[in-house]
Amino acid sequence: QEVRVFAPATVANVAVGFDILGFAINRPGDEIVARFNPDRKGLRITKITGTGDKKLPTEVEQNTAGVAAQRLLEHLGKAELGIDLEVHKRMPFGSGLGSSAASAAGAVVAVNELLGAPLSRESLLYFSVLGEQVADGSFHADNVAPSLVGGITLIRSNESLDVHKLPVPDGLRVAVVHPEIEILTRDARAVLSKTIELSLAIQQMGSLASFITALHTNDLPLLGRSLHDYVIEPQRKQLIKGFDDVKEAAMSRGALGCSISGAGPSVFALCDSGYLAQAVGQGMQDAFTAHGVSSQLYVSPI
Ligand code: HSE
Repeated sequence: QEVRVFAPATVANVAVGFDILGFAINRPGDEIVARFNPDRKGLRITKITGTGDKKLPTEVEQNTAGVAAQRLLEHLGKAELGIDLEVHKRMPFGSGLGSSAASAAGAVVAVNELLGAPLSRESLLYFSVLGEQVADGSFHADNVAPSLVGGITLIRSNESLDVHKLPVPDGLRVAVVHPEIEILTRDARAVLSKTIELSLAIQQMGSLASFITALHTNDLPLLGRSLHDYVIEPQRKQLIKGFDDVKEAAMSRGALGCSISGAGPSVFALCDSGYLAQAVGQGMQDAFTAHGVSSQLYVSPI
Protein backbone atom coordinates (compact mmCIF):
# COMPACT_ATOMS: atom_id res chain seq x y z
CA GLN A 1 0.00 0.00 0.00
CA GLU A 2 1.28 3.42 -0.99
CA VAL A 3 0.17 7.04 -0.51
CA ARG A 4 1.41 9.85 -2.77
CA VAL A 5 0.85 13.46 -1.64
CA PHE A 6 1.49 16.85 -3.24
CA ALA A 7 2.34 19.66 -0.79
CA PRO A 8 2.25 23.15 -2.33
CA ALA A 9 4.72 25.99 -2.10
CA THR A 10 3.62 28.96 0.00
CA VAL A 11 4.11 32.70 0.27
CA ALA A 12 4.69 33.66 3.91
CA ASN A 13 4.43 37.09 5.58
CA VAL A 14 2.32 38.55 2.70
CA ALA A 15 3.90 41.97 3.35
CA VAL A 16 1.76 42.80 6.36
CA GLY A 17 1.95 39.71 8.61
CA PHE A 18 5.53 38.73 9.40
CA ASP A 19 5.49 35.16 10.78
CA ILE A 20 1.66 35.17 11.02
CA LEU A 21 0.24 35.21 7.46
CA GLY A 22 0.76 32.87 4.52
CA PHE A 23 -0.99 31.47 1.47
CA ALA A 24 -0.59 28.41 -0.74
CA ILE A 25 -0.02 28.53 -4.51
CA ASN A 26 -0.90 25.70 -6.89
CA ARG A 27 2.66 25.05 -8.03
CA PRO A 28 5.50 24.38 -7.51
CA GLY A 29 5.43 21.95 -4.60
CA ASP A 30 6.89 18.73 -3.25
CA GLU A 31 5.72 15.18 -3.74
CA ILE A 32 5.99 12.76 -0.84
CA VAL A 33 5.41 9.02 -1.08
CA ALA A 34 4.83 6.83 1.98
CA ARG A 35 4.54 3.05 1.90
CA PHE A 36 4.57 0.22 4.42
CA ASN A 37 7.68 -1.91 4.55
CA PRO A 38 6.77 -5.19 6.28
CA ASP A 39 10.42 -6.35 6.25
CA ARG A 40 11.76 -3.86 8.76
CA LYS A 41 10.82 -1.68 11.72
CA GLY A 42 10.75 2.11 11.93
CA LEU A 43 10.69 5.04 9.56
CA ARG A 44 13.26 5.34 6.79
CA ILE A 45 13.86 7.84 4.01
CA THR A 46 14.65 5.68 1.02
CA LYS A 47 14.86 8.24 -1.74
CA ILE A 48 15.30 11.99 -2.23
CA THR A 49 15.13 13.38 -5.75
CA GLY A 50 15.05 16.85 -7.32
CA THR A 51 17.77 18.44 -5.23
CA GLY A 52 20.08 19.16 -8.18
CA ASP A 53 23.67 19.57 -7.09
CA LYS A 54 22.64 20.00 -3.42
CA LYS A 55 22.19 17.20 -0.93
CA LEU A 56 19.53 16.77 1.71
CA PRO A 57 20.16 14.35 4.59
CA THR A 58 18.38 10.99 4.45
CA GLU A 59 18.83 10.53 8.23
CA VAL A 60 15.31 10.79 9.65
CA GLU A 61 16.31 13.10 12.53
CA GLN A 62 18.07 15.55 10.23
CA ASN A 63 15.43 15.79 7.54
CA THR A 64 12.34 18.03 7.80
CA ALA A 65 10.06 15.38 6.30
CA GLY A 66 11.65 12.68 8.49
CA VAL A 67 11.33 14.58 11.77
CA ALA A 68 7.73 15.62 11.07
CA ALA A 69 6.66 12.06 10.20
CA GLN A 70 8.64 10.52 13.08
CA ARG A 71 7.08 12.82 15.72
CA LEU A 72 3.62 11.98 14.31
CA LEU A 73 4.32 8.23 14.47
CA GLU A 74 5.57 8.55 18.07
CA HIS A 75 2.43 10.51 19.03
CA LEU A 76 0.26 7.76 17.54
CA GLY A 77 2.31 5.01 19.24
CA LYS A 78 3.25 3.61 15.81
CA ALA A 79 6.99 4.31 15.75
CA GLU A 80 7.71 0.59 15.38
CA LEU A 81 5.87 0.32 12.06
CA GLY A 82 8.08 -0.17 9.02
CA ILE A 83 7.43 2.83 6.76
CA ASP A 84 9.50 4.03 3.81
CA LEU A 85 9.32 7.67 2.71
CA GLU A 86 10.35 9.17 -0.61
CA VAL A 87 10.85 12.92 -0.92
CA HIS A 88 10.65 14.36 -4.44
CA LYS A 89 11.65 18.02 -4.29
CA ARG A 90 9.90 19.89 -7.05
CA MET A 91 11.01 23.35 -5.96
CA PRO A 92 14.26 25.07 -5.06
CA PHE A 93 15.53 25.49 -1.49
CA GLY A 94 16.36 28.89 -0.11
CA SER A 95 13.75 30.34 -2.46
CA GLY A 96 11.30 31.94 -0.01
CA LEU A 97 8.61 29.53 -1.21
CA GLY A 98 8.46 27.34 1.90
CA SER A 99 10.37 24.38 0.49
CA SER A 100 11.17 22.77 3.84
CA ALA A 101 7.63 23.45 5.09
CA ALA A 102 6.15 21.68 2.05
CA SER A 103 8.28 18.58 2.68
CA ALA A 104 7.24 18.53 6.36
CA ALA A 105 3.56 19.08 5.57
CA GLY A 106 3.57 16.48 2.79
CA ALA A 107 5.26 13.89 5.00
CA VAL A 108 2.72 14.11 7.82
CA VAL A 109 -0.22 14.04 5.41
CA ALA A 110 1.21 11.02 3.56
CA VAL A 111 1.92 9.06 6.76
CA ASN A 112 -1.43 10.00 8.31
CA GLU A 113 -3.25 8.82 5.14
CA LEU A 114 -1.24 5.58 5.09
CA LEU A 115 -2.46 4.89 8.64
CA GLY A 116 -6.10 5.50 7.67
CA ALA A 117 -6.22 9.23 8.55
CA PRO A 118 -6.47 9.05 12.37
CA LEU A 119 -5.80 12.82 12.68
CA SER A 120 -7.38 15.86 11.00
CA ARG A 121 -5.29 18.20 8.82
CA GLU A 122 -5.39 20.81 11.60
CA SER A 123 -4.00 18.42 14.20
CA LEU A 124 -1.12 17.54 11.88
CA LEU A 125 0.12 21.12 12.07
CA TYR A 126 2.18 20.71 15.24
CA PHE A 127 4.20 17.79 13.81
CA SER A 128 4.86 19.65 10.55
CA VAL A 129 6.17 22.70 12.42
CA LEU A 130 8.52 20.47 14.43
CA GLY A 131 9.83 19.14 11.12
CA GLU A 132 10.30 22.54 9.54
CA GLN A 133 12.12 23.75 12.63
CA VAL A 134 14.99 21.39 11.71
CA ALA A 135 15.64 23.51 8.62
CA ASP A 136 15.45 27.03 9.96
CA GLY A 137 15.72 26.75 13.73
CA SER A 138 12.63 28.77 14.63
CA PHE A 139 9.09 27.64 15.44
CA HIS A 140 6.71 29.46 13.09
CA ALA A 141 3.84 28.01 11.08
CA ASP A 142 3.31 30.66 8.40
CA ASN A 143 4.50 28.35 5.60
CA VAL A 144 3.42 25.01 7.03
CA ALA A 145 -0.17 26.01 7.82
CA PRO A 146 -1.18 27.09 4.30
CA SER A 147 0.74 24.18 2.75
CA LEU A 148 -1.34 21.82 4.94
CA VAL A 149 -4.79 23.38 4.76
CA GLY A 150 -4.61 25.58 1.61
CA GLY A 151 -5.82 29.16 1.08
CA ILE A 152 -4.73 32.06 3.26
CA THR A 153 -4.02 31.37 6.92
CA LEU A 154 -3.63 33.70 9.88
CA ILE A 155 -1.72 32.58 12.96
CA ARG A 156 -2.87 34.28 16.14
CA SER A 157 -0.16 32.51 18.11
CA ASN A 158 2.78 30.46 16.86
CA GLU A 159 3.25 29.09 20.40
CA SER A 160 -0.22 27.57 20.71
CA LEU A 161 -0.68 27.17 16.92
CA ASP A 162 -3.97 29.03 16.99
CA VAL A 163 -4.45 29.09 13.20
CA HIS A 164 -7.39 30.46 11.19
CA LYS A 165 -8.27 30.16 7.52
CA LEU A 166 -9.24 33.50 5.96
CA PRO A 167 -11.63 34.11 3.06
CA VAL A 168 -10.09 34.72 -0.38
CA PRO A 169 -11.65 37.48 -2.55
CA ASP A 170 -12.96 36.40 -5.96
CA GLY A 171 -10.45 36.66 -8.76
CA LEU A 172 -7.39 37.18 -6.55
CA ARG A 173 -4.30 35.87 -8.34
CA VAL A 174 -0.61 35.98 -7.60
CA ALA A 175 2.53 36.25 -9.70
CA VAL A 176 5.54 34.78 -7.90
CA VAL A 177 8.96 35.33 -9.39
CA HIS A 178 11.86 33.26 -8.12
CA PRO A 179 15.23 34.82 -9.03
CA GLU A 180 18.31 32.63 -9.07
CA ILE A 181 19.68 34.03 -5.84
CA GLU A 182 19.86 31.84 -2.73
CA ILE A 183 18.94 33.25 0.68
CA LEU A 184 18.87 31.09 3.78
CA THR A 185 16.01 31.90 6.15
CA ARG A 186 18.45 31.91 9.06
CA ASP A 187 20.50 34.66 7.37
CA ALA A 188 17.42 36.69 6.40
CA ARG A 189 16.24 36.55 10.03
CA ALA A 190 19.66 37.53 11.34
CA VAL A 191 19.52 40.92 9.53
CA LEU A 192 16.29 41.95 11.30
CA SER A 193 16.27 44.47 14.11
CA LYS A 194 14.69 43.17 17.34
CA THR A 195 12.77 46.41 17.94
CA ILE A 196 10.29 48.52 15.94
CA GLU A 197 9.65 52.25 16.17
CA LEU A 198 6.18 53.04 17.49
CA SER A 199 5.25 55.04 14.36
CA LEU A 200 6.15 52.08 12.12
CA ALA A 201 4.26 49.66 14.36
CA ILE A 202 1.14 51.83 14.03
CA GLN A 203 1.41 51.88 10.22
CA GLN A 204 1.99 48.13 10.09
CA MET A 205 -0.96 47.41 12.40
CA GLY A 206 -3.17 49.57 10.18
CA SER A 207 -2.00 47.63 7.11
CA LEU A 208 -2.58 44.23 8.66
CA ALA A 209 -6.00 45.09 10.05
CA SER A 210 -7.20 46.59 6.78
CA PHE A 211 -5.77 43.69 4.75
CA ILE A 212 -7.81 41.24 6.86
CA THR A 213 -10.88 43.49 6.51
CA ALA A 214 -10.40 43.57 2.72
CA LEU A 215 -10.31 39.75 2.60
CA HIS A 216 -13.58 39.57 4.51
CA THR A 217 -15.33 42.26 2.47
CA ASN A 218 -14.01 41.28 -0.99
CA ASP A 219 -12.59 44.80 -1.28
CA LEU A 220 -9.63 44.55 -3.67
CA PRO A 221 -8.88 48.31 -3.78
CA LEU A 222 -8.60 48.30 0.04
CA LEU A 223 -6.46 45.16 -0.18
CA GLY A 224 -4.14 47.04 -2.56
CA ARG A 225 -3.92 50.07 -0.27
CA SER A 226 -3.13 47.74 2.64
CA LEU A 227 -0.25 45.80 1.10
CA HIS A 228 2.65 47.80 2.50
CA ASP A 229 5.41 46.35 4.62
CA TYR A 230 6.87 49.12 6.75
CA VAL A 231 8.98 46.86 8.94
CA ILE A 232 10.57 43.82 7.26
CA GLU A 233 10.86 44.63 3.55
CA PRO A 234 13.05 47.74 4.08
CA GLN A 235 15.48 45.62 6.11
CA ARG A 236 15.62 42.63 3.76
CA LYS A 237 15.30 44.10 0.28
CA GLN A 238 19.02 44.73 -0.07
CA LEU A 239 19.51 40.93 -0.05
CA ILE A 240 17.58 40.79 -3.36
CA LYS A 241 19.43 42.30 -6.32
CA GLY A 242 17.14 44.63 -8.29
CA PHE A 243 14.25 44.45 -5.80
CA ASP A 244 13.16 48.11 -6.12
CA ASP A 245 13.00 47.88 -9.92
CA VAL A 246 11.13 44.57 -9.77
CA LYS A 247 8.56 46.07 -7.42
CA GLU A 248 8.26 49.17 -9.58
CA ALA A 249 7.69 46.93 -12.62
CA ALA A 250 4.87 45.10 -10.80
CA MET A 251 3.17 48.24 -9.49
CA SER A 252 3.42 50.18 -12.77
CA ARG A 253 1.69 47.28 -14.55
CA GLY A 254 -1.25 47.38 -12.15
CA ALA A 255 -0.49 44.91 -9.36
CA LEU A 256 -2.46 45.45 -6.14
CA GLY A 257 0.73 45.12 -4.14
CA CYS A 258 4.18 43.55 -4.29
CA SER A 259 6.63 42.39 -1.64
CA ILE A 260 9.11 39.69 -0.63
CA SER A 261 7.82 36.11 -0.44
CA GLY A 262 8.78 34.69 2.97
CA ALA A 263 12.44 35.29 3.69
CA GLY A 264 13.11 35.87 -0.05
CA PRO A 265 14.53 36.00 -2.63
CA SER A 266 11.20 35.26 -4.38
CA VAL A 267 8.99 38.30 -4.89
CA PHE A 268 5.20 38.11 -5.16
CA ALA A 269 2.61 40.48 -6.59
CA LEU A 270 -1.12 40.17 -5.94
CA CYS A 271 -3.37 40.98 -8.91
CA ASP A 272 -7.08 41.09 -9.62
CA SER A 273 -6.97 38.69 -12.60
CA GLY A 274 -4.88 35.84 -13.97
CA TYR A 275 -4.30 37.77 -17.18
CA LEU A 276 -2.84 40.72 -15.27
CA ALA A 277 -0.78 38.45 -13.01
CA GLN A 278 0.87 36.95 -16.11
CA ALA A 279 1.73 40.41 -17.51
CA VAL A 280 2.92 41.66 -14.11
CA GLY A 281 5.06 38.55 -13.61
CA GLN A 282 6.69 39.00 -17.01
CA GLY A 283 7.46 42.63 -16.19
CA MET A 284 9.03 41.53 -12.91
CA GLN A 285 11.13 38.93 -14.72
CA ASP A 286 12.30 41.56 -17.23
CA ALA A 287 13.37 43.79 -14.35
CA PHE A 288 15.42 40.96 -12.81
CA THR A 289 16.94 40.23 -16.22
CA ALA A 290 18.00 43.89 -16.51
CA HIS A 291 20.02 43.28 -13.32
CA GLY A 292 21.58 40.14 -14.80
CA VAL A 293 19.43 37.81 -12.69
CA SER A 294 17.51 34.98 -14.36
CA SER A 295 14.20 33.93 -12.82
CA GLN A 296 11.22 31.60 -12.89
CA LEU A 297 7.59 32.81 -12.94
CA TYR A 298 4.61 31.07 -11.32
CA VAL A 299 1.08 32.43 -11.70
CA SER A 300 -1.51 30.94 -9.41
CA PRO A 301 -4.94 31.40 -7.88
CA ILE A 302 -4.92 31.53 -4.08
N1 HSE B 1 8.17 34.28 8.33
C1 HSE B 1 9.40 33.65 7.95
C2 HSE B 1 10.44 34.73 7.67
C3 HSE B 1 9.16 32.85 6.71
O1 HSE B 1 10.12 35.67 6.96
O2 HSE B 1 11.55 34.64 8.20
C4 HSE B 1 10.37 32.09 6.24
O3 HSE B 1 10.47 30.87 6.88
